[in-house]
Amino acid sequence: ELVDVNALLLSRIRDVPDYPEPGVLFKDITPLLADPAAFTALTGALADLSVRHGATKVVGLEARGFILGAPVALRADLGFIPVRKAGKLPGATLSQRYDLEYGSAEIEVHAEDLKPDDRVMVIDDVLATGGTAEASLRLIRRAGAQVAGVAVLMELGFLNGRERLIPALDGAPLEAL
Ligand code: PRP
Repeated sequence: ELVDVNALLLSRIRDVPDYPEPGVLFKDITPLLADPAAFTALTGALADLSVRHGATKVVGLEARGFILGAPVALRADLGFIPVRKAGKLPGATLSQRYDLEYGSAEIEVHAEDLKPDDRVMVIDDVLATGGTAEASLRLIRRAGAQVAGVAVLMELGFLNGRERLIPALDGAPLEAL
């Protein structure tokens, strides 16, 4: 059954050459989202992982991590916390800057959403360089909360995001379907 689910998910990811720039092969998940069987299988698998790793909250990373993270949170009967790009959250925030290949980016979370006794599962579609996920783990730890793990649909292994994430994971699992 696991093989069938992975085959189904893989069949619903569209490779788009030279997007958003020449030389990049973009992994488009919109066909998966449009297929209720695949969307259900994906969010069910990510919810199972969240429960198995003892999560008490689900964090989704803007923007595709919102599309996946919200149904995962509901299916696991957990609260959902958005980690947003800088400047989008109205309340008191913690922010974390991180390096991109060229320049830097910044993400934020509402500080009051993360409590010291929370165990947080981070959900996203793709782990690429790992910069976004690493910054989210820093936010979670700076808030005093614990990390249950990171779970993504896809890991682009050739970008070595897993290695970049290891120190911030501090023993917590990185799960890639
Ligand atoms: C993509 C993807 C991850 C991140 C992975 O989001 O959805 O969040 O990049 O890249 P990294 O591992 O190198 O940090 P993007 O920044 O394109 O944001 P969007 O979903 O809002 O378009």
